Amino acid sequence: MHSVYVFDAYGTLFDTGAAVARHAETLGASGRELAEVWRRKQLEYSWVRGLMGDASRNFWDLTEDALDYAFQKVGGVDPALREPLLDAYRDLDCYPEVPSTLRALKDKEARVAILSNGSRDMLSRAVRSAGLEDLVDELFSAEDCGQYKTAPAVYEMVTTQYRIYPDAVSFQSSNRWDIAGANRFGFHTVWINRKGEPDEYLDLRPDAILPDLKNLAGRL
Ligand code: LAC
Repeated sequence: MHSVYVFDAYGTLFDTGAAVARHAETLGASGRELAEVWRRKQLEYSWVRGLMGDASRNFWDLTEDALDYAFQKVGGVDPALREPLLDAYRDLDCYPEVPSTLRALKDKEARVAILSNGSRDMLSRAVRSAGLEDLVDELFSAEDCGQYKTAPAVYEMVTTQYRIYPDAVSFQSSNRWDIAGANRFGFHTVWINRKGEPDEYLDLRPDAILPDLKNLAGRL
């Protein structure tokens, strides 16, 4: 049992595919490719700008930029869907096991926080729309330190705020590259491998690999 449980947001707590899924009928066969290109480019832009040392475009800006690119790349998607898709992204569903997992951690007196590239506005809206306000104690947004994951300064926001050592934190993320960054920083790391992806970054291994968050509470 750790004293602090920190969660990545997108893909870990919130289902990034849910925005496109809500418009699956209108999007038809293009939906799957649009969702994949959108997510891939959103992340790529955060890494490229992070390497530039310029996070002046926040994660919401990058989310819009990535969707605009995906519309061009995929082709044949009605541009009128841009705003509805962005609205859906603002209010993503959380995965079904998230509320009970966070509740189980709170019942064990753990602190629960989100550490995300997401802007503060994005995160507070996502937590509210998923009805998780009572279960999340703190939001850590990369926007507040002017960098993007996997910069150590992003993970360090947690240890600085809580005045704890990195290994007191259990960090959960579905993004294997995020687990690599958190592992290097010194967190205890749990990779939520929702899609059954092959492992990588083998020099920066997770302490545990789970298919979803359901089993996390059972491991405490
Ligand atoms: C986040 C993205 C990277 O929430 O999943 O930081």
